[in-house]
Amino acid sequence: MDINIPSHQDPAELADDLLDWYDVNARTLPWRIPPGDGRVPDPYHIWLSEIMLQQTTVVTVIPYYEKFLKLWPTLADLAGAELDQVLTAWAGLGYYARARNLHKCAQYVLSELDGTFPGTEADLLKLPGVGPYTAAAIAAIAFGRQATVVDGNIERVMARMFNVTTLLPGAKPELKELAHRMTPAHRAGDYAQAVMDLGSDICGPKILKCTGRCPWEDRCQARATGTAEHLPKRKSKAAKPTRRGYAFWAEFNDHLWLCRRPEKGLLGGMMEVPSSDWLESQDWGAVPMPQIPIIANWTETPGMVRHTFTHFNLELKVIRLELLDMIELQEGDWFPFSRMEDLALPTVMMKIIHHLRQPVLDL
Ligand code: ADE
Repeated sequence: MDINIPSHQDPAELADDLLDWYDVNARTLPWRIPPGDGRVPDPYHIWLSEIMLQQTTVVTVIPYYEKFLKLWPTLADLAGAELDQVLTAWAGLGYYARARNLHKCAQYVLSELDGTFPGTEADLLKLPGVGPYTAAAIAAIAFGRQATVVDGNIERVMARMFNVTTLLPGAKPELKELAHRMTPAHRAGDYAQAVMDLGSDICGPKILKCTGRCPWEDRCQARATGTAEHLPKRKSKAAKPTRRGYAFWAEFNDHLWLCRRPEKGLLGGMMEVPSSDWLESQDWGAVPMPQIPIIANWTETPGMVRHTFTHFNLELKVIRLELLDMIELQEGDWFPFSRMEDLALPTVMMKIIHHLRQPVLDL
């Protein structure tokens, strides 16, 4: 990609200034080796922290990270744990697929790679649960590779530094390229963590805390132009209508009632937790009570499941029935919870299962 970086924003100089700033201001984090400390990072620690940090804040992750290392001090310990123990220790951290992948990945690295994590982004990407951000973070932090981490925070920093006014998500390739051009070959791990700290502590989404604090303050184009607070720009989402309905969760002896959707139309032919019609409405007050499919003592469960489709948002309340005796079904069948993963249920149905079974069952 052809991008011009003005001479007063020399990437090498900027990287050095950020590293100098990091030497003094680095956050103290349990998985982090402070700058200048000289210890060699343990890839197991870095991998564990990066998986936990996916979509989760540092503050939330810290106690879990410490608990996991106490329970499983080495990769071999984690690989040897029962999946259930790992899921139990993960409970409360959310996105439970991460815990399953964590366990799977530990076993894979132990048995297939002699317990040694790969050091390149390309090889890290092949591991279960490791996407581009995590691969770059591990490559840089654990192995000192010149790898560029890019998430929303770093996109924001780049958009402001270079006054990128193109709308997101279209601006992503440009922001990624800028982040890439800024990444130095030396102290790659410190640089990756420095830019993460800058994005989270100083160049925040709303309130700017850069005056007198940001090492790039005097070379930030958006700051000079007064546009920093409005960057990055995002394509405004067209208001979508909301449809609402009731899902019928009927359970019998560790089995769930599922039906197949009609072949034509939304989620055609996929398995589903049966539900009432999804009707467009302003609020729940306007949603008619559903026709109950099995005459029995159903109870409404707290909360609801939300999902976004291309053309509408969906809100489903779940009403629940726990049967003590098997009943003959007019439609669909009983499926054991242990088989849910094999059924390729659509995301919205996974969400329903998550909602009622978390954290016992991870999907
Ligand atoms: N977010 C994701 N990875 C991180 C890290 N290594 N340090 C701080 N925040 C992070």
